[in-house]
Amino acid sequence: MSENAVVIVGAGHAGVQAAVRLAELEWSGRIVMIEEQDGATYERPPLSKEFLKAGAASETPITPLRKEQFFADKRIERVHGTVVGIDRAAHRVQLADGTSVGYSKLILAPGSAARSLRVPGGDLAGVHLLKTRADAEALRAALRPGARVVIVGAGYIGLEVAAAAAALGCETTVLEFMDRVMSRVTSEPVSRFFEQLHESHGTRFVFGTAVTELTGNGRVEDVVTADGSSYPADLVVAGIGVVPRQEAAEAAGIAVRDGILVDIESRTSDPDIYAAGDATRLIHAEEGIDRRLESIQSAQAQAGNAANSIMGLPRGKNEVPWFWTIQHGVRLQTAGLRLPEDEIVLRGNPADAQFTVLYLRDGRLAALDTIGSLSDFTAGKKLVAQGAPIDVDLAADRSVKLSAAVLEPVAQDS
Ligand code: NAI
Repeated sequence: MSENAVVIVGAGHAGVQAAVRLAELEWSGRIVMIEEQDGATYERPPLSKEFLKAGAASETPITPLRKEQFFADKRIERVHGTVVGIDRAAHRVQLADGTSVGYSKLILAPGSAARSLRVPGGDLAGVHLLKTRADAEALRAALRPGARVVIVGAGYIGLEVAAAAAALGCETTVLEFMDRVMSRVTSEPVSRFFEQLHESHGTRFVFGTAVTELTGNGRVEDVVTADGSSYPADLVVAGIGVVPRQEAAEAAGIAVRDGILVDIESRTSDPDIYAAGDATRLIHAEEGIDRRLESIQSAQAQAGNAANSIMGLPRGKNEVPWFWTIQHGVRLQTAGLRLPEDEIVLRGNPADAQFTVLYLRDGRLAALDTIGSLSDFTAGKKLVAQGAPIDVDLAADRSVKLSAAVLEPVAQDS
């Protein structure tokens, strides 16, 4: 083992949180954070929202996760470079420029990469992904009023970009594989609500469609789908999901399976190596968990747990996973993880643009989606954490507080 250093690979939400937590816990050795050339220490959520919507003429800056001075004050060293290998025996990470950095403990937080369109013409000029600050800058510059924008994928990225493009006066078409928007993360009533919202702002959806080819002379001109349709495009944005960046871990013989495998304390299969964030798959057999989660809150919690474990401290409290998106000014907040087979309780009327969908599993609240209702979100998040049993009739009545829809424990006969 070389030196008393925790090396953190990645400076996104997980990597920065790991460094911050170690500094807070007064780790006595060095804290070295390795970041890629464009520097990833910035807030990602605005990139697909207000940053884009501000338009090409805007000077809107990208918000850093922490100020430069913060890292200096906390003695967090920052190294620029891309990790290409991990020498586990020598406890060193190798960088693309040929240098290497020694570690006593390593935290991998390399994140995920946007999946690219693997069809003929997928690499033509005018085809955009949205993951990094450079991607966001390039896309913002291209979203000119009147531009014909074809978005592939109606997930978070596709819809947030569609909202920005429509607001900027682009002619926007979204092509989606499945039969509704955000099908990975939400239920039919929420999908339908957002479809109508986008349609009311002029966006056109085509569902159940597969892109087979992009054509154009050096630059994209048309998007062709399996049924032979063709959609003229000045630019194309692919928002078709992400892939965990696990290559370096995998090549070093660390266990991976669609994500670097970690336990609840963020340990990988190597006792000196931890991992956190989008690149990981959490395995927690006692609770039946085997999942990859793309969530800032979860990434930060995992990073905190890695730091705690390195310091010999117990892990933090389990928090209910939560997510949010904002599209055309309407905020969707989600707590918990729904399953397609969950019972659905609709609370309120989607036509009012203020409603909640509860997901019950064995009569208990497992997750909820709230549209424009902070009070339901706040109360619901707590009830999800408790696995509260819910009275369906009361819960469906928006005039009743959500917390009042919890069933009383059944009285025990003495
Ligand atoms: P996603 O998984 O949310 O959505 C991808 C969509 O593309 C799905 O609806 C899927 O059916 C569709 N799709 C996949 N392949 C396709 C194909 N070949 N043709 C047509 N449709 C296809 O992924 P997305 O939107 O790319 O987001 C990427 C990441 O960014 C995720 O980790 C997400 O959590 C994160 N993100 C989160 C936001 C938020 O929480 N508000 C906002 C923006 C991004």
